Amino acid sequence: MRTHYCGQVTESLIGQTIELCGWVHRRRDHGGVIFVDLRDREGRVQIVFHPENVAAFSVGESLRNEFVIKIVGLVRHRPEGTVNPDLFTGAVEVLVQEVTLLNRADPVPFRIDEHQEVSEDVRLRYRYIDLRRPEMAQRIAFRAKVTRTMRHYLEEHGFYDVETPILTKSTPEGARDYLVPSRVHPGEFYALPQSPQIFKQLLMVAGIDRYYQLARCFRDEDLRADRQPEFTQLDLEMSFIEEKDIQQIVEGLTRKLFAELLNVTLPDPFPHMTYAEAMRRFGVDKPDLRNPLELVDIGDIVQNVEFKVFSDAAKDSRCRVAALPVPGGDKLSRKMIDDYGTFVTIYGAKGLAYIKVNDRSAGKEGLQSPILKFLPDDVVENILVRCNAKTGDVIFFGADTAKVVNEALGALRLKVGEDLGIVDGGWRPLWVVDFPMFERESLTGRWQSTHHPFTAPSINDPEELLKDPGQALSRAYDLVLNGSEIGGGSIRINNIALQNTVFKLLGFTEEQAHAQFGHLITGLRMGAPPHGGLAFGLDRVVMMMTGATSIRDVIAFPKTQSAQCPLTQAPSVVDTQQLIDLGIRINKPAPQKTE
Ligand code: AMO
Ligand code: AMP
Repeated sequence: MRTHYCGQVTESLIGQTIELCGWVHRRRDHGGVIFVDLRDREGRVQIVFHPENVAAFSVGESLRNEFVIKIVGLVRHRPEGTVNPDLFTGAVEVLVQEVTLLNRADPVPFRIDEHQEVSEDVRLRYRYIDLRRPEMAQRIAFRAKVTRTMRHYLEEHGFYDVETPILTKSTPEGARDYLVPSRVHPGEFYALPQSPQIFKQLLMVAGIDRYYQLARCFRDEDLRADRQPEFTQLDLEMSFIEEKDIQQIVEGLTRKLFAELLNVTLPDPFPHMTYAEAMRRFGVDKPDLRNPLELVDIGDIVQNVEFKVFSDAAKDSRCRVAALPVPGGDKLSRKMIDDYGTFVTIYGAKGLAYIKVNDRSAGKEGLQSPILKFLPDDVVENILVRCNAKTGDVIFFGADTAKVVNEALGALRLKVGEDLGIVDGGWRPLWVVDFPMFERESLTGRWQSTHHPFTAPSINDPEELLKDPGQALSRAYDLVLNGSEIGGGSIRINNIALQNTVFKLLGFTEEQAHAQFGHLITGLRMGAPPHGGLAFGLDRVVMMMTGATSIRDVIAFPKTQSAQCPLTQAPSVVDTQQLIDLGIRINKPAPQKTE
């Protein structure tokens, strides 16, 4: 129907008759001449209806926003003084010779205007209108470029694209399963995969050697700004490899994406940091290296002080006493410092002690702090030396369980960095490695996998692993970019004795392990090669690369924070007959939906 996209009409086409299709973005009547911005996926161009062309002009007069038209017209220069340098097509216009009204449109709920503030609920309800907005259309286009580049790279490196089932059995990744009732087998359920983890391992047992998939994953968990109940992974698995092999492939892919799509050169290789170091220096396992602030341990210095908050924590092995020195912290107002004290309570902190270094050369006189009175001079001096304190610094302190201190000071570090504007621009990828194999569930005290139950420990001997599971490290690696976990993976267990030991440690009886993972256990017995892999969070990668602030802005039809779809109104009540067919009786009324 057309010869060109609207967004591609430039001066090279001057004098040519072309055919365009698209939506009426805006219509302006100017002293007998009608100007229309015609829009399609690629952008906009100005078209002009002249009254001399009576037939076309009368159609032009009837046009309203979002009507769909086709035109035939002549490309010409815009008159002097009317060139729009902000528009790619801004030097030209198309004089309409023929026009066909392809479809009319009801008034749309919001204007297709880049900067229009529209509530997210309305945007999602009319997502097809929202996606007409240039910034959204560009994000969807960018996402397609990302997946295209990923596919090319992996095809070049010998990976097979293999699909794995959606109606399947639980694949645990630490979230709740979404369940689908079976009609043919009443009372039985499929689970939607939290990831293709077990299937990709079985593909390695099958000899596929290199697998990838753009895989939809389903996790019923609490949603956050960078989480969706269904999301997409670029999922990979390779056989006969070690950590460095998969990391090379993943780095190569990441560097290619950034070079080709953003013209950014990422480091080669990416730096590595152990989990222990990340927690010690940054309080988190996904440090944002653009932020220069670091935590400093001071437990050894304050072990014997009278200030119980510090000394009790310093003597308890589950606790941590740490400082967060902030160079140039004197720019923080008293109010900000007080607000930080409230901020850290979100993470369970009971207070936020601080020392302001007004004049480093003036000894204790040069300091300002609510805790000086509790600390002997030599302790204060040791803290200042440890923190490399200078005039103008502020030092914050946390003393509590290691978890609380890490979370509170880790989050405070990011907040203060933002507030002081000391966070570098640019891109800082990082491999975080040597994670603990297990962590204790806080309520039950039971061991749970830090990654998933199929991750190999760095000790291969089941007996050794049983001796001190809390000390065991795993062969997992996370890919972190600017403080966001964009990928995670591991070398897998391919030895059945070791896998059974891990299941046992996690509290599965042999029968339970068989009932849930029998297919993997049997597969591992039948010639499983050494293998490992990783999954990128595709949505997160695209979100970061496009600078979007919400994961929903890079997904065509996302769900809200409460896991609903305003467009389709899913989830929704179903027919009684459907429930009868499935053998399901609802014993809880569905909550009323707010319109
Ligand atoms: P993991 O659970 O770490 O590993 O997931 C891999 C990556 O997927 C992204 N991600 C999410 N993105 C959006 N919404 C969510 N709810 C969500 N949850 C996770 C993250 C994360 O780094 N099977 C293993 C991978 C492997 O071991 O190979 C897995 O799923 O960016
Ligand atoms: P208090 O003796 O409770 O008034 O506390 C003195 C100072 O220590 C105040 O600035 C508190 O904010 C701070 N503080 C109290 N508990 C903690 C804690 N667990 N970690 C860090 N600072 C704390």
